[in-house]
Amino acid sequence: MTNTIKYGVIGTGVMGQEHIQNINIIENAEVVAICDTNENSRNQANSLVKDSTKFYNDLDELISKNIADAYIIATPNFTHINILERILKTNKHLLIEKPLCTTTEDCKKFELLAKDYSKIIWTGMEYRYMPPVKQLIKEVHNNIIGKIKMLSIREHRFPFLHKVDDWNRFSVNTGGTLVEKCCHFFDLMRLVIQSEPAKVYASGNQDVNHLEEKYDGKTPDIIDNAFVIVDFKNGVRGMLDLCMFAENSEYQEEIVAVGDVGKIETFVPSSASGRNSSEVKIALRNDNKIISNKVEVDNKILAAGHHHGSTYFEHLAFIKAIQQNTKPEVSLRDGLISVAVGEAAEKSIRENRVVFMEEFKL
Ligand SMILES: NC(=O)c1ccc[n+]([C@@H]2O[C@H](COP(=O)([O-])OP(=O)(O)OC[C@H]3O[C@@H](n4cnc5c(N)ncnc54)[C@H](O)[C@@H]3O)[C@@H](O)[C@H]2O)c1
Repeated sequence: MTNTIKYGVIGTGVMGQEHIQNINIIENAEVVAICDTNENSRNQANSLVKDSTKFYNDLDELISKNIADAYIIATPNFTHINILERILKTNKHLLIEKPLCTTTEDCKKFELLAKDYSKIIWTGMEYRYMPPVKQLIKEVHNNIIGKIKMLSIREHRFPFLHKVDDWNRFSVNTGGTLVEKCCHFFDLMRLVIQSEPAKVYASGNQDVNHLEEKYDGKTPDIIDNAFVIVDFKNGVRGMLDLCMFAENSEYQEEIVAVGDVGKIETFVPSSASGRNSSEVKIALRNDNKIISNKVEVDNKILAAGHHHGSTYFEHLAFIKAIQQNTKPEVSLRDGLISVAVGEAAEKSIRENRVVFMEEFKL
């Protein structure tokens, strides 16, 4: 393999294009191949890549050309399992967008199939790489707040956007909102808290969004607001507060961790705000000063996506793992458990009960 990592991007809708734009600003990386079944998406990608990039509308054709070192899978959630099964025969590095699959069962099936895979399989969990979030994680792990006891994550944002063929309007295609969107937050909880989830209880509903829409005569069935509580095995409590009818919120994510010594919080500006900086604030119980650290993101990096610079930093980490032959920072197991917690939360709402993670036989 040369020093430049050659990427093949499968699926070039919103997220695939964000990956391309970020690869374009990384020196030792380039997009050499694109595969998308939709002509419009291929055309949009065409405007972002070099003339030499090859285009395919069939995955097997892309695979047979054998021109990439690494593949990114950024197709609709329900297609992941089939694409993953087919792409395993390439023995190339893989970065698969979250959620790994739409169900825990499919994630487990894939984990088994991939158990002897010798290359990197990395689940795309961009929120880990948002600079202010990364800073918060580092401070918590440095014990600045003492022993963490509570972690709360609030996401207040706009409704789901329209996607190619509107696949994201139905839970059968996405896994449900708490899998599709919120696997990010359950992954963050595990990472910050450094423990495994034990039980999940949630309350949520589709109260406002998409109720007037119809697709082939059917109304969308995706939750637009929820509170989810996750109890971890080490006794720490996590809570997610999700609202998807909160356009124009100043911050899209607000994350607060409290320990026995103090509290740390950060606020991620919404991408619409265009703000390139945020703060990480620390308040200790025995000191009445608030320590505030500004975290800035370079404007060029910010402009390459909608996730506060995170996709860029995720690729730097992915490339480093390839070059140094190390394990993925976000493993298949991480992808699997984040889906399982989301599925548990959806189940808790549907069945009006506490869901124990042991039910999933992870
Ligand atoms: N990490 C994040 O924050 C984040 C944000 C957005 C989306 N995503 C994830 O990225 C993935 C794609 O989402 P999106 O928003 O880009 O959706 P999208 O609808 O905008 O794009 C999906 C693309 O995949 C193409 N496609 C469908 N089936 C295909 C196949 N079999 N082979 C090749 N191409 C195929 C479609 O034509 C479309 O162009 C999803 O898994 C989604 O959950 C992650």
